[in-house]
Amino acid sequence: MKKLVVYQSSTGFTAKYAAWIAEALSCEAKELKRVSAGEVAECDCIIFGGWIMGGMITGLDKMRKMNPKQLVVFAVGATSNSEELRNNLKNQNHLEQTPFFYFEGGLNFEKMSFFPKMMLKMMQKSVAKKENKTEQEKEMEKLFAGSVDNSDKANIEPLVALVKEA
Ligand SMILES: Cc1cc2nc3c(=O)[nH]c(=O)nc-3n(C[C@H](O)[C@H](O)[C@H](O)COP(=O)(O)O)c2cc1C
Repeated sequence: MKKLVVYQSSTGFTAKYAAWIAEALSCEAKELKRVSAGEVAECDCIIFGGWIMGGMITGLDKMRKMNPKQLVVFAVGATSNSEELRNNLKNQNHLEQTPFFYFEGGLNFEKMSFFPKMMLKMMQKSVAKKENKTEQEKEMEKLFAGSVDNSDKANIEPLVALVKEA
């Protein structure tokens, strides 16, 4: 079964998870912008990872348009993993029928480009004003304090096991 890990990463956390997964599955990891529809068509299984921006998995729509035969998705965000978070992400990103995994990454303000940093600042201001904050908003509020890395190679194990079984 030909596999390929495809990812979209802004500050490096998703790229790191993609490299770990590719190593564990003995296949290649490539950035979404460097992958063609032809390459995708040659693969039996695409493992796609994108970073989360405002609850949306970046790059997922573009990946879907390439019509992979079989798609496994992982998302990397700054908040800690929970069933509620995974369910929200599944609903928001229409992943009810797709194997889906969430991995905690972190925040890297040093590597963040101008536009995402500005958006994060705007989110910070709007969350600060809110009265009834969701659990995720409360967590994001704590994270705004500074760069943090909560990535962990062990998180990939269930995804790797599922793809190996298939
Ligand atoms: C504008 C913006 C919005 C974000 N929204 C979320 C979010 O809704 N949920 C979350 O868990 N993390 C959110 N994050 C944090 C990133 O998903 C997190 O830093 C991730 O690890 C980045 O991955 P990367 O290093 O591969 O780019 C946001 C970050 C930015 C800059």
